[in-house]
Amino acid sequence: MTEQHATEVLNERDQDFELTLRPGRFEDFVGQRKVKDRLELAVEAALHRKDVLDHVMLSGPPGLGKTTLAYILGSAMDVNVKTTSGPVIDKPGDLAGLLTGLERGDILFIDEIHRMQKTVEEYLYSAMEDFVLDIMIDQGPNARSIRLDLPHFTLVGATTRSGLISAPLRSRFGLTNRLDYYDADDLTVIVKRSARILNVDIDDEGAVELASRSRGTPRICNNLLRRVRDYAQVRADNHITRPVADKALEMLDIDKHGLDEMDKRILETLIHKFSGGPVGINSLSVSVGEESGTIEEVYEPYLIQEGYLTRTAKGRVVTDLCYKRFGLKPDGREMELGL
Ligand SMILES: Nc1ncnc2c1ncn2[C@@H]1O[C@H](COP(=O)(O)OP(=O)(O)O)[C@@H](O)[C@H]1O
Ligand SMILES: [Mg+2]
Repeated sequence: MTEQHATEVLNERDQDFELTLRPGRFEDFVGQRKVKDRLELAVEAALHRKDVLDHVMLSGPPGLGKTTLAYILGSAMDVNVKTTSGPVIDKPGDLAGLLTGLERGDILFIDEIHRMQKTVEEYLYSAMEDFVLDIMIDQGPNARSIRLDLPHFTLVGATTRSGLISAPLRSRFGLTNRLDYYDADDLTVIVKRSARILNVDIDDEGAVELASRSRGTPRICNNLLRRVRDYAQVRADNHITRPVADKALEMLDIDKHGLDEMDKRILETLIHKFSGGPVGINSLSVSVGEESGTIEEVYEPYLIQEGYLTRTAKGRVVTDLCYKRFGLKPDGREMELGL
């Protein structure tokens, strides 16, 4: 349940849709200036030296562009990208199979790398550092290890939970980058770009409305666009304006402020059960039924960025803005109607 909240499960249609809208080059990747600059520089330097790109770690909440960047790196380096995911590699032999199939310079993209088994992870260390794998074969008295030489490759690891990455693994990445939630301006650019690709007519105000209700997340803003598009097609001559967006999103029960269910649960719990805080992360975690690490790495950054929550030495505290958002006065009493 925990993982499901944090990581959207995509069906096939959603995947096709994502593929259509996924930017394939740095130029089309909106926002995340610092991360983009760093990666572009690393690519340019590696290309210049005819070298293999350093191992790259990408962390951040779901839907912010980690997979997209892995593929952009592949096309910028002009290499193959082989994709897998942490929980899928269940024994060292699987890893050996993946690694020996690579050509020099290729990217192995391991999504959800924090969910890789410890035994597999340990084999990755020498693969990343020295491009060799020492594999044990046979058992008992015949057990021996053989050394496989690997092509020089680039590991791109993605994680929503960087806190769960062990120090030895972390230290083997040359480049570590954290993606942050997007601001409304960047999301507006993304909505407009997506609308162009999907051949939907959207005006500036309509785009801003979608952007501001997307929880700082490109994946969400593209999904909202898709659903508002259906509405516009049937009810509004295929043209998305603010009122059209607003009507459609209201029909879909999409929060005005871009908060999702867990965001609301966290804030409401803080207000009603803990009188607004301060409360420690562990008590909060138990009350809302979500892992403390996921709260810290996936939910809180957005709530803090939007000014609903602050972290203090004593714990989490909600802000006046948060009370206002729920129609309450800062001391927690209901505001009078009409205020
Ligand atoms: N910086 C960006 N600019 C434009 N679109 C983006 C950007 N980041 C993500 N997207 C869109 O959001 C979707 C989800 O991104 P993805 O890379 O799959 O996220 P993650 O792997 O971090 O969960 C992509 O298909 C793409 O359309
Ligand atoms: Mg992804």
